[in-house]
Amino acid sequence: MIRSRKQARGSAAPAFLLALLLTLLVLATVYAFAAHLFPPPPPITSIAILVDRQYDLTLYVAGVVFVLSQLGLAYAVFRFRDRGQRAHFTRGNVAMEVVWTSVTLLVFLSLAIVGRKAWAEGRYMPPAPGAIQVEVTTTQFVYTFRYPGADGKFGRLDPAMISAPTGNPLGLDPNDPAGRDDIVVPALTVPVDRPIELLLRSQDVVHNFFVRELRLQQDSVPGMMVPVYFTANRIGQYEIVCTQLCGLGHNTMHSFLNVVSESDYESFLKRQAAAQ
Ligand code: CUA
Repeated sequence: MIRSRKQARGSAAPAFLLALLLTLLVLATVYAFAAHLFPPPPPITSIAILVDRQYDLTLYVAGVVFVLSQLGLAYAVFRFRDRGQRAHFTRGNVAMEVVWTSVTLLVFLSLAIVGRKAWAEGRYMPPAPGAIQVEVTTTQFVYTFRYPGADGKFGRLDPAMISAPTGNPLGLDPNDPAGRDDIVVPALTVPVDRPIELLLRSQDVVHNFFVRELRLQQDSVPGMMVPVYFTANRIGQYEIVCTQLCGLGHNTMHSFLNVVSESDYESFLKRQAAAQ
Protein backbone atom coordinates (compact mmCIF):
# COMPACT_ATOMS: atom_id res chain seq x y z
CA MET A 1 0.00 0.00 0.00
CA ILE A 2 1.35 3.36 -0.95
CA ARG A 3 1.12 6.10 1.59
CA SER A 4 1.34 9.76 1.00
CA ARG A 5 4.78 10.81 2.31
CA LYS A 6 3.62 14.21 3.19
CA GLN A 7 0.92 14.15 5.90
CA ALA A 8 -1.19 17.05 7.05
CA ARG A 9 0.81 19.17 9.51
CA GLY A 10 -0.83 19.70 12.91
CA SER A 11 -2.07 23.15 13.74
CA ALA A 12 -0.47 25.14 16.55
CA ALA A 13 -3.77 26.77 17.60
CA PRO A 14 -5.32 23.99 19.77
CA ALA A 15 -2.00 23.32 21.53
CA PHE A 16 -1.53 27.01 22.18
CA LEU A 17 -5.09 27.40 23.54
CA LEU A 18 -4.67 24.41 25.87
CA ALA A 19 -1.33 25.73 27.15
CA LEU A 20 -2.91 29.16 27.69
CA LEU A 21 -5.88 27.65 29.56
CA LEU A 22 -3.53 25.69 31.85
CA THR A 23 -1.51 28.83 32.59
CA LEU A 24 -4.66 30.83 33.38
CA LEU A 25 -5.89 28.08 35.72
CA VAL A 26 -2.55 28.12 37.55
CA LEU A 27 -2.69 31.92 37.91
CA ALA A 28 -6.32 31.84 39.17
CA THR A 29 -5.47 29.13 41.73
CA VAL A 30 -2.39 30.96 43.00
CA TYR A 31 -4.42 34.17 43.29
CA ALA A 32 -7.20 32.44 45.30
CA PHE A 33 -4.65 31.31 47.91
CA ALA A 34 -2.31 34.31 47.85
CA ALA A 35 -5.17 36.80 48.27
CA HIS A 36 -6.58 34.81 51.25
CA LEU A 37 -10.04 34.73 49.68
CA PHE A 38 -11.27 32.18 52.25
CA PRO A 39 -9.49 33.01 55.52
CA PRO A 40 -9.99 30.60 58.45
CA PRO A 41 -11.26 31.98 61.80
CA PRO A 42 -8.44 32.92 64.21
CA PRO A 43 -7.04 29.96 66.20
CA ILE A 44 -7.85 29.76 69.93
CA THR A 45 -5.25 27.25 71.15
CA SER A 46 -1.45 27.10 70.98
CA ILE A 47 -1.73 23.78 69.09
CA ALA A 48 -4.07 25.40 66.55
CA ILE A 49 -1.25 27.88 65.78
CA LEU A 50 1.11 24.93 65.14
CA VAL A 51 -1.53 23.36 62.89
CA ASP A 52 -1.81 26.62 60.94
CA ARG A 53 1.98 26.78 60.51
CA GLN A 54 2.05 23.20 59.29
CA TYR A 55 -0.81 23.94 56.90
CA ASP A 56 1.06 26.95 55.49
CA LEU A 57 4.28 24.97 55.10
CA THR A 58 2.48 22.12 53.31
CA LEU A 59 0.69 24.64 51.12
CA TYR A 60 3.97 26.36 50.12
CA VAL A 61 5.68 23.07 49.28
CA ALA A 62 2.68 21.65 47.41
CA GLY A 63 2.06 25.06 45.78
CA VAL A 64 5.58 25.24 44.30
CA VAL A 65 5.29 21.68 42.98
CA PHE A 66 1.83 22.45 41.58
CA VAL A 67 2.93 25.61 39.76
CA LEU A 68 6.10 24.04 38.31
CA SER A 69 4.39 20.84 37.18
CA GLN A 70 1.38 22.59 35.61
CA LEU A 71 3.53 25.17 33.80
CA GLY A 72 5.78 22.30 32.68
CA LEU A 73 2.69 20.56 31.35
CA ALA A 74 1.59 23.71 29.49
CA TYR A 75 5.08 23.98 27.96
CA ALA A 76 5.10 20.29 26.93
CA VAL A 77 1.61 20.53 25.41
CA PHE A 78 2.82 23.31 23.13
CA ARG A 79 6.41 22.21 22.50
CA PHE A 80 5.56 18.60 21.62
CA ARG A 81 2.38 19.32 19.67
CA ASP A 82 1.41 17.41 16.54
CA ARG A 83 3.54 18.65 13.62
CA GLY A 84 2.63 15.74 11.39
CA GLN A 85 5.68 13.82 12.63
CA ARG A 86 5.61 10.09 13.40
CA ALA A 87 4.83 9.26 17.02
CA HIS A 88 7.47 7.08 18.66
CA PHE A 89 7.16 4.67 21.53
CA THR A 90 9.09 5.15 24.76
CA ARG A 91 9.45 2.85 27.75
CA GLY A 92 10.13 5.72 30.12
CA ASN A 93 13.22 6.48 32.12
CA VAL A 94 14.02 4.35 35.16
CA ALA A 95 16.54 6.81 36.61
CA MET A 96 14.01 9.66 36.54
CA GLU A 97 11.27 7.45 38.01
CA VAL A 98 13.56 6.58 40.92
CA VAL A 99 14.54 10.24 41.44
CA TRP A 100 11.04 11.74 41.54
CA THR A 101 9.59 8.90 43.62
CA SER A 102 12.40 9.33 46.16
CA VAL A 103 12.03 13.12 46.21
CA THR A 104 8.25 12.82 46.75
CA LEU A 105 8.80 10.28 49.54
CA LEU A 106 11.37 12.54 51.18
CA VAL A 107 9.11 15.62 50.99
CA PHE A 108 6.10 13.80 52.50
CA LEU A 109 8.17 12.15 55.24
CA SER A 110 9.78 15.50 56.15
CA LEU A 111 6.37 17.22 56.34
CA ALA A 112 5.05 14.40 58.53
CA ILE A 113 8.06 14.63 60.87
CA VAL A 114 7.80 18.42 61.13
CA GLY A 115 4.04 18.21 61.73
CA ARG A 116 3.97 15.33 64.20
CA LYS A 117 3.85 17.59 67.26
CA ALA A 118 0.87 19.59 65.99
CA TRP A 119 -1.03 16.39 65.32
CA ALA A 120 0.00 14.25 68.27
CA GLU A 121 -0.18 16.86 71.04
CA GLY A 122 -3.98 16.82 71.17
CA ARG A 123 -4.20 13.05 70.98
CA TYR A 124 -1.28 11.02 72.32
CA MET A 125 0.10 13.17 75.11
CA PRO A 126 -1.13 12.22 78.57
CA PRO A 127 -3.80 14.68 79.78
CA ALA A 128 -2.43 17.67 81.67
CA PRO A 129 -2.77 17.35 85.45
CA GLY A 130 -6.08 18.82 86.57
CA ALA A 131 -7.64 18.50 83.11
CA ILE A 132 -11.43 18.82 83.14
CA GLN A 133 -13.05 15.69 81.78
CA VAL A 134 -16.15 15.98 79.65
CA GLU A 135 -17.74 13.04 77.90
CA VAL A 136 -19.07 13.71 74.39
CA THR A 137 -21.68 11.33 73.02
CA THR A 138 -22.81 11.52 69.41
CA THR A 139 -26.03 10.06 68.12
CA GLN A 140 -28.13 10.76 65.03
CA PHE A 141 -28.17 13.82 64.98
CA VAL A 142 -27.25 15.42 68.28
CA TYR A 143 -24.32 15.91 70.63
CA THR A 144 -24.75 15.20 74.32
CA PHE A 145 -22.15 16.35 76.84
CA ARG A 146 -21.71 14.88 80.32
CA TYR A 147 -19.79 16.34 83.25
CA PRO A 148 -18.95 14.03 86.17
CA GLY A 149 -20.38 16.44 88.77
CA ALA A 150 -19.04 17.23 92.24
CA ASP A 151 -17.71 13.68 92.90
CA GLY A 152 -15.53 13.79 89.77
CA LYS A 153 -16.83 10.37 88.70
CA PHE A 154 -19.00 9.46 85.75
CA GLY A 155 -21.93 7.22 86.65
CA ARG A 156 -22.54 3.87 85.01
CA LEU A 157 -24.29 3.82 81.63
CA ASP A 158 -26.68 1.06 80.62
CA PRO A 159 -27.55 0.90 76.90
CA ALA A 160 -30.91 -0.70 77.81
CA MET A 161 -31.89 2.49 79.66
CA ILE A 162 -31.21 4.87 76.76
CA SER A 163 -34.39 6.90 76.31
CA ALA A 164 -34.11 10.41 74.90
CA PRO A 165 -37.90 11.14 75.10
CA THR A 166 -37.89 10.54 78.88
CA GLY A 167 -34.81 12.68 79.41
CA ASN A 168 -32.18 9.94 79.62
CA PRO A 169 -30.39 10.12 76.24
CA LEU A 170 -27.22 8.47 77.58
CA GLY A 171 -28.87 5.62 79.53
CA LEU A 172 -27.63 6.76 82.96
CA ASP A 173 -28.24 4.05 85.55
CA PRO A 174 -30.27 5.69 88.39
CA ASN A 175 -29.05 3.01 90.82
CA ASP A 176 -25.41 4.07 90.55
CA PRO A 177 -24.69 6.76 93.17
CA ALA A 178 -21.71 8.07 91.08
CA GLY A 179 -24.16 9.08 88.36
CA ARG A 180 -26.60 11.04 90.54
CA ASP A 181 -24.65 14.30 90.24
CA ASP A 182 -23.69 13.84 86.57
CA ILE A 183 -24.60 16.84 84.44
CA VAL A 184 -26.01 16.09 80.98
CA VAL A 185 -26.33 19.03 78.57
CA PRO A 186 -26.67 19.65 74.81
CA ALA A 187 -23.82 22.19 74.54
CA LEU A 188 -20.20 22.20 75.72
CA THR A 189 -19.13 24.83 78.23
CA VAL A 190 -15.50 25.04 79.38
CA PRO A 191 -13.44 27.57 81.32
CA VAL A 192 -10.81 29.59 79.45
CA ASP A 193 -7.11 28.63 79.84
CA ARG A 194 -7.85 25.29 81.51
CA PRO A 195 -6.83 21.96 79.95
CA ILE A 196 -9.84 19.97 78.79
CA GLU A 197 -10.00 16.25 78.11
CA LEU A 198 -12.89 15.21 75.89
CA LEU A 199 -13.91 11.55 75.81
CA LEU A 200 -15.64 10.87 72.50
CA ARG A 201 -18.20 8.09 72.21
CA SER A 202 -20.89 7.25 69.68
CA GLN A 203 -24.20 5.46 70.17
CA ASP A 204 -24.95 4.54 66.57
CA VAL A 205 -22.68 5.36 63.62
CA VAL A 206 -19.38 7.19 63.07
CA HIS A 207 -19.83 10.92 63.69
CA ASN A 208 -17.26 13.65 64.14
CA PHE A 209 -16.35 16.46 66.52
CA PHE A 210 -14.95 19.45 64.66
CA VAL A 211 -14.34 22.98 65.90
CA ARG A 212 -12.59 25.16 63.31
CA GLU A 213 -11.13 27.56 65.89
CA LEU A 214 -9.53 24.62 67.77
CA ARG A 215 -8.25 23.17 64.46
CA LEU A 216 -9.38 19.92 66.04
CA GLN A 217 -11.29 17.26 64.18
CA GLN A 218 -11.86 13.78 65.54
CA ASP A 219 -14.21 10.95 64.64
CA SER A 220 -16.36 9.39 67.32
CA VAL A 221 -16.60 5.66 66.74
CA PRO A 222 -19.16 3.21 68.19
CA GLY A 223 -17.49 0.88 70.69
CA MET A 224 -14.52 3.19 71.25
CA MET A 225 -13.68 5.92 73.75
CA VAL A 226 -11.45 8.42 71.93
CA PRO A 227 -9.73 11.07 74.08
CA VAL A 228 -8.76 14.49 72.69
CA TYR A 229 -7.22 17.43 74.53
CA PHE A 230 -7.27 21.18 74.15
CA THR A 231 -6.83 24.38 76.13
CA ALA A 232 -8.86 27.25 74.72
CA ASN A 233 -7.36 30.69 75.33
CA ARG A 234 -10.15 32.98 74.14
CA ILE A 235 -13.62 33.50 75.59
CA GLY A 236 -16.37 33.14 73.02
CA GLN A 237 -18.88 30.86 71.35
CA TYR A 238 -17.70 28.50 68.62
CA GLU A 239 -19.63 26.07 66.49
CA ILE A 240 -19.16 22.31 66.80
CA VAL A 241 -20.02 20.44 63.61
CA CYS A 242 -20.21 16.83 62.52
CA THR A 243 -18.05 16.21 59.44
CA GLN A 244 -18.90 12.57 58.83
CA LEU A 245 -21.82 11.85 56.53
CA CYS A 246 -23.90 10.12 59.21
CA GLY A 247 -27.43 10.00 57.80
CA LEU A 248 -30.22 12.16 56.44
CA GLY A 249 -29.97 14.71 59.27
CA HIS A 250 -26.18 15.06 59.02
CA ASN A 251 -26.37 18.65 57.79
CA THR A 252 -28.33 19.67 60.90
CA MET A 253 -25.95 18.04 63.38
CA HIS A 254 -24.16 20.73 65.31
CA SER A 255 -23.74 22.23 68.76
CA PHE A 256 -21.71 24.97 70.44
CA LEU A 257 -18.52 25.25 72.40
CA ASN A 258 -18.81 28.04 74.96
CA VAL A 259 -15.48 29.18 76.35
CA VAL A 260 -16.25 31.20 79.48
CA SER A 261 -14.46 32.75 82.45
CA GLU A 262 -13.69 30.60 85.51
CA SER A 263 -16.50 32.23 87.53
CA ASP A 264 -19.03 31.82 84.70
CA TYR A 265 -18.00 28.17 84.51
CA GLU A 266 -18.61 27.69 88.24
CA SER A 267 -22.06 29.26 87.97
CA PHE A 268 -22.82 27.15 84.89
CA LEU A 269 -22.03 23.99 86.90
CA LYS A 270 -24.16 25.16 89.85
CA ARG A 271 -27.09 26.09 87.61
CA GLN A 272 -26.96 22.80 85.74
CA ALA A 273 -26.52 20.71 88.90
CA ALA A 274 -29.72 22.29 90.26
CA ALA A 275 -31.57 21.69 86.99
CA GLN A 276 -30.71 17.98 86.59
CU1 CUA B 1 -23.17 13.11 62.68
CU2 CUA B 1 -22.76 13.88 60.47
